[in-house]
Amino acid sequence: MVAEARHSGFFCVGSGVIRHLQLNLDTQLLNAFLPDGILADEIIAKAAEVIRAGGLAAFPTETVYGLGANALDGNAVAKIFEAKQRPLNDPIIVHVADGAWEELADAHNAEMRQMARALARACWPGPLTLVLPRGGRIPANVTAGLDKVGLRMPAHPVALALIRASGVPIAAPSANRFGHTSPTTAAHVLDDLRGRIDLVLDGGPASIGVESTVLDLTGAAPQILRPGGLSRERLEEVLARPVSIRQRQTPNQSEAMPAPGMLERHYAPGAKLILCKDTPDLLARREAYAAQKLRVGLLITQAQSAACAGLTPQFVMGNALAEIARELYAGMRALDAAGAQVILITQVERTGLGEAIADRLRRAAA
Ligand code: TXA
Ligand code: MG
Repeated sequence: MVAEARHSGFFCVGSGVIRHLQLNLDTQLLNAFLPDGILADEIIAKAAEVIRAGGLAAFPTETVYGLGANALDGNAVAKIFEAKQRPLNDPIIVHVADGAWEELADAHNAEMRQMARALARACWPGPLTLVLPRGGRIPANVTAGLDKVGLRMPAHPVALALIRASGVPIAAPSANRFGHTSPTTAAHVLDDLRGRIDLVLDGGPASIGVESTVLDLTGAAPQILRPGGLSRERLEEVLARPVSIRQRQTPNQSEAMPAPGMLERHYAPGAKLILCKDTPDLLARREAYAAQKLRVGLLITQAQSAACAGLTPQFVMGNALAEIARELYAGMRALDAAGAQVILITQVERTGLGEAIADRLRRAAA
């Protein structure tokens, strides 16, 4: 695994040991499905072997693609940080496939345990990450030294099969370079991480397209740290109590980044993203930027496409919030690739999935 790589990176882990990561790996892209849509067991087994051996395998989930390593192996997890160029103070979600998740947390308080079980029963597998007190088996670097761990059971047959075949929980952040938009296809993963990871399982485009909702159960009241694929309304329904969304603070260096999804500029395309009020505002701004000789990309819905006919480059998403969530990151990447210097998009309503979309748009525009 560790070798005299052409571009060999190095980094420190807690004990001060310097490790090297090979950055010119021959990253394999493997289809996780057979032509008839059946899971390719041999391919899953191969990826599980990579995980067990301490390597990095990217895999599809219903939200976005994850970059997986054995969550019980601190050395394997350290490679995730290096491959993504992710700051060591950003904790990683641990993915599970069955009831054994309870052993990974230390939900000592009865009310907390009850809420976690109720949510797991109602919402897993699904786009929800539960933050609970960290159990002793989770290495400290997984949680960036925090005494809490984020756990999630993904609703994707490939992810679940991979976790089961590996026989270990899988630590996985989104499979992009740090600060880039999350990948919703295997091709996006390769664009960011080719040569830096062992393998990518292709399971087709992600069905939800924005990351999981991160819910902290360790405080006095449950609190959303990051809005995502599961709505606040649904959480309130399951818990039968109000759930707040944590307000962003101005970055505070001394704080160990309690929810680093909270970094302001995050989930961002290369081009500058501008949020517009409505279609007339979008068209007016397009004209103003074009007058400055800037290449303007439009990230619009079908409902806007007639008004924007002929204005290129443009990427057209569906009108429903679920379609916008699914196509948003692909649209940002496509417009980046088309050379857009500025990307214009219209605000969405903040209900249901709209909360997560609005959060990502605001941060991409920061
Ligand atoms: O949908 C998803 O959540 C995807 C798929 C792959 O599961 N994963 C993902 O991971 O988006 P990542 O690393 O890109 O974002 C995880 C975020 C962290 O940045 C942080 O905000 C929060 O989840 N998080 C994870 N563990 C935490 C912890 N122990 N305490 C507080 N926040 C945590
Ligand atoms: Mg991420």
